[in-house]
Amino acid sequence: MSYLEHLEREIKNWESQSLHRQLRFEPELLDFSSNDYLCLNSDGSHWKLLQELLKEKPGTNVTVGSTGSRLIRGHWPSFDEAENAFNAWAETPSSLLFQSGYSANVGTLSALTGPGDIAFCDRLCHASLLDGVRLSGAQKQYFQHNDLNHLESLLKKKIPRKRRWILCESVFSMDGDIPDLAGLLDLCRKYDATLFLDEAHALGYYGSPGNPGAGLLASLKKELAGRDPYSHVILSAPLGKAPGIMGAFVAGHPLLRQFLVNRARSFVFSTAQPPVLAALITRILENFRSHVYDHRIAALRENVDYFKNLLKENRIQVSSRSAIIPVVLGEADVCLKTSRRLKEIGMDVRAIRPPTVAPGSSRLRIAIHSCHTRDQLGRLLDVILEMIQDLNLEL
Ligand SMILES: Cc1ncc(COP(=O)(O)O)c(C=O)c1O
Repeated sequence: MSYLEHLEREIKNWESQSLHRQLRFEPELLDFSSNDYLCLNSDGSHWKLLQELLKEKPGTNVTVGSTGSRLIRGHWPSFDEAENAFNAWAETPSSLLFQSGYSANVGTLSALTGPGDIAFCDRLCHASLLDGVRLSGAQKQYFQHNDLNHLESLLKKKIPRKRRWILCESVFSMDGDIPDLAGLLDLCRKYDATLFLDEAHALGYYGSPGNPGAGLLASLKKELAGRDPYSHVILSAPLGKAPGIMGAFVAGHPLLRQFLVNRARSFVFSTAQPPVLAALITRILENFRSHVYDHRIAALRENVDYFKNLLKENRIQVSSRSAIIPVVLGEADVCLKTSRRLKEIGMDVRAIRPPTVAPGSSRLRIAIHSCHTRDQLGRLLDVILEMIQDLNLEL
């Protein structure tokens, strides 16, 4: 069979199971799908910020193309500035900016872990975390989603390994729920393990009064007072969700940064992102830190509470603790039909199907934004309820 025959067969197979996915650009639909939780793109704020930046920085220390990897002449002051801005916002000792969350997670985990190590991964960890471990050759063991008892039972087993790692997300990207982070930190100390925590969907939602929107770890500031989490924690902070841009910081002990600069292959062997993008990232982080986005964070949290209450009143289960609210419908075709119906009435809610989620757990993944109105949220609920009735679904 030629490779093209193989592709054709695979694609037909996906189509027959409602699993074929396609690229769509439909800005006219009401956005319940993007990660622009704080509406920084949809209301033009970031565009304005970029224009201001371009007026102020006429091409001296900030160019468009970085012209190389950061170790080979692609390093510009705006990268240091962005990393400092992140450290100031999240109160991290040190950080390194990668081109994306995917490259940060894969590059960091594949550099840090090795064949002699064991990585305990929450069953719902993002692909980028799992791919990083896979590349390193470390042994991988899954623990049941958010089940710290199960994790501890695995940690207790005496497996002769050099180092133990725990991989987790602050907000799970398809379920919107959160782990018991204080409990995870306790387990790390007890069993001398290091937690790699991906804060992608927690940024802009969780934080503390002094670190608005800086993530779930920052939200535990009071509880962790006096402890140095960074001896046992590495943070990954992808910026493509609420911060509304791209790139990702990996943050922790200063030794970590030095190590990654030398060994993270996605960092060493790849052209650095445009320095002008790093300058824009700095502005965005400074805005978070100086409370410019506080009202958006508050509006987002209010909308989330409002929508979750609507679902609960209609006996639809919600375990989400974030702006991601999944409504699990079961089979892929049912989910696809509901998503299509929503599209007909002008709403963009994507059907998330295998392989992204487990078979039988296809879902509408609803992303709540700070600028959604109560009326829009109410209309969304009405259509979902209608579809549940029409399709005779039992949730
Ligand atoms: C939890 C999580 N980590 C990492 C990533 C990857 O980040 P990026 O889109 O910046 O590559 C994503 C995005 O899908 C994500 O949801």
